[in-house]
Amino acid sequence: MNYLIAGNWKMNGLKASMREITALQERLVEAPENAEVLICPPVTLLPAMAAKADKIMVGAQDCHAAESGAHTGDVSAEMLHEAGASYVIVGHSERRADHGETNKDVRAKAEAVLRAGMMPIVCVGETREEREAGEAIAIVTEQVKASLPEGDQYVIAYEPVWAIGTGLVPTIDDIAEVHDCIRGLATATTPILYGGSVKPGNAPEILAVTNVNGALVGGARLKADDLYGIISAVK
Ligand code: PGA
Repeated sequence: MNYLIAGNWKMNGLKASMREITALQERLVEAPENAEVLICPPVTLLPAMAAKADKIMVGAQDCHAAESGAHTGDVSAEMLHEAGASYVIVGHSERRADHGETNKDVRAKAEAVLRAGMMPIVCVGETREEREAGEAIAIVTEQVKASLPEGDQYVIAYEPVWAIGTGLVPTIDDIAEVHDCIRGLATATTPILYGGSVKPGNAPEILAVTNVNGALVGGARLKADDLYGIISAVK
């Protein structure tokens, strides 16, 4: 299975940031052949990035579950597809925490992404309190079961909430335990990404874990060199 390295720009990036895409694509000439690269910019940059994309794929960070309608400020999966997206992240912990998204909402969004002909990246992950209470596996199991769409067309991203943007990462054994658990709930070919403070320095050991099939990267996202440092860790 190829590795998927996805950069989530979150609410960062103006037109000037497009130069990082030019720089990244120049570096990708030398990238490992089994590394696929996806960039999820803010929606404002999506069409321009899709037009420039040659060695990368382009995705979105969220969508509305409905195809169209009276939803001021929202963007449908169909619109994102037309703008050039091939993946959409759904259920990121920042959406779950800041916008109260439930597993049911996440599943509805994932289904909308599939209907529009794209691939959902469904995010799951426990909070610090849940890990400390020994509930990580139970929480992730529940989130996976309740958030995944019908069928087998999806990517799952395990992102412990406490590891996102903090510089903290679980131990390799803890990552392996959760990824093995998710593998048991998904198919043998479902890509399972790890996300949460992935950096060029820790990417080699994280990407070497069985059942880690790529990374969802936030903090190291904007700089082509940092992201390339993670991509080049793919073996
Ligand atoms: P981080 O974010 O790499 O900054 O920890 C990961 C994410 O939110 O997807």
